[in-house]
Amino acid sequence: MKRLLQKIPDSLLRVGSVFIVFITVVLLIRSLIPASLKNSEEHRNATVEREVAHPVKHAGSEVCADCHEQYELKKTGYHKNLACETCHGAAQAHSEDQEIKPVLNRKREACTLCHLFNPSRPTGFPQINPVVHNPGKQCITCHNPHDPKPPRVPKDCQACHEQIERTKAVSPHVQLDCTTCHTVNEQHKITPRVVKANIPNDRTFCGKCHANDSKIKETPKVDLSTHGEKYLCWECHYPHMPEVN
Ligand code: HEC
Ligand code: HEC
Ligand code: HEC
Ligand code: HEC
Ligand code: HEC
Ligand code: HEC
Ligand code: HEC
Ligand code: HEC
Repeated sequence: MKRLLQKIPDSLLRVGSVFIVFITVVLLIRSLIPASLKNSEEHRNATVEREVAHPVKHAGSEVCADCHEQYELKKTGYHKNLACETCHGAAQAHSEDQEIKPVLNRKREACTLCHLFNPSRPTGFPQINPVVHNPGKQCITCHNPHDPKPPRVPKDCQACHEQIERTKAVSPHVQLDCTTCHTVNEQHKITPRVVKANIPNDRTFCGKCHANDSKIKETPKVDLSTHGEKYLCWECHYPHMPEVN
């Protein structure tokens, strides 16, 4: 045996021993790896076992329907595709024990998370700029989170007479409501060409505030009998932007 070993060249012996050490290490490591990582069948079973052991956190929207009318309300609205738990957080625990309260975030940020203007959002997705879109108020004062309504037809005059509204907003008449000078039937806002708004019909109308004998104090006065003579006031002054110079 000794002689036999002597016959083998040293170099071969060295390579051989390195090989043996390598095999031993590989076998040792393999024996340390748990069976579930080596056998795909066992691996699958172990994974299922591990996941099932996690506590259930999300209940799913159907569960909420048992106790909350919001489920029915939301079903047909714009938020129909949002799960309750998108906004209220994981609520399985709450479904089982109502002492545990779900998340209830009323802040604007809860909504701008999805509705903040961002050019990368899909075309047509309703977006707003929170700096100018009714700042300082909670979104839910105007939009029901469970049934956010599409843009309503704005009810005021500026919905259809925006130019006039903007003009007046920077004029000396800024303080006057449209309806100070125009009597408007509600129906005008629905069928404006059928039910017309009225406009003042004579000089005395403006005179209520601008005639020398007017009781309104803060307005500049003119002598109605001589100023502009026979012409209507609005033949010289644009009523939505009365300027003198
Ligand atoms: C077994 C009945 C039941 C189920 C199921 C249930 N809730 Fe509730 N929930 C309640 C009760 C009761 C209250 C307390 C009502 C109250 O305080 O007026 C409540 C309150 C809430 C509140 C208000 C919390 C607050 O701070 O005022 C939210 C939000 C809510 N639930 C969401 C959910 C969601 C989302 C689900 C489904 C994942 C759900 N609930 C499932 C019974 C239930
Ligand atoms: C887009 C986010 C959002 C979604 C989706 C949503 N909620 Fe809400 N929920 C809110 C907000 C915000 C409030 C607070 C409303 C308030 O104070 O007027 C609220 C309030 C509630 C309340 C308390 C009662 C109330 O009206 O103040 C309950 C209960 C509730 N939600 C249940 C649900 C259930 C059930 C679902 C799913 C069917 C759901 N919510 C889906 C945002 C949402
Ligand atoms: C997780 C994302 C998400 C959150 C959070 C969210 N929304 Fe929405 N919202 C949507 C989706 C999706 C639609 C439907 C868009 C569509 O129909 O194309 C929508 C639609 C709307 C619309 C209707 C716009 C239209 O087209 O007329 C309003 C208003 C609205 N949401 C308000 C709110 C308010 C208020 C909150 C906060 C309480 C809120 N949203 C929170 C995703 C969200
Ligand atoms: C004072 C009432 C008010 C408040 C507060 C308010 N909105 Fe609106 N919102 C409206 C009205 C009215 C419209 C429809 C007319 C318009 O576009 O201005 C609208 C339209 C929208 C639309 C549809 C825009 C589109 O292009 O289709 C979304 C989305 C919306 N609001 C989300 C929000 C969010 C999010 C908040 C809070 C950050 C919020 N709103 C706060 C009154 C309000
Ligand atoms: C739904 C859109 C709409 C709304 C809202 C609306 N108007 Fe009009 N208004 C019109 C249209 C369209 C005309 C033009 C009618 C025509 O030429 O036959 C008009 C005409 C007028 C006229 C001119 C009448 C005339 O004889 O020349 C006045 C004044 C007027 N509107 C005032 C108002 C005031 C004030 C409000 C708010 C209280 C208002 N409108 C709201 C659409 C609207
Ligand atoms: C100081 C009184 C006064 C106020 C305030 C006023 N108007 Fe007028 N408006 C008039 C008079 C007078 C006319 C007729 C002008 C003419 O025939 O040249 C008129 C004409 C109009 C007309 C039809 C002709 C035109 O100029 O386009 C519309 C529409 C109108 N007003 C809408 C409005 C709206 C909307 C507001 C509020 C934003 C408003 N008005 C505020 C006095 C007023
Ligand atoms: C309800 C009261 C009221 C009525 C009605 C009224 N005005 Fe005025 N008017 C004012 C007030 C307030 C001012 C601004 C005074 C100031 O800024 O010091 C003003 C300012 C003016 C000015 C001066 C502008 C300037 O540059 O100094 C003119 C011109 C004018 N109005 C014309 C008219 C005409 C024309 C009518 C009729 C279509 C009319 N007003 C109806 C209240 C009224
Ligand atoms: C023929 C054109 C014309 C007519 C019509 C006219 N104005 Fe003037 N108005 C002017 C001119 C020009 C001025 C500026 C010079 C001046 O003060 O006389 C003026 C000035 C004013 C001033 C400002 C006075 C001040 O002291 O600042 C008021 C207010 C005024 N007008 C109201 C009216 C009223 C109300 C009527 C209708 C009863 C009317 N105007 C009709 C041309 C007219």
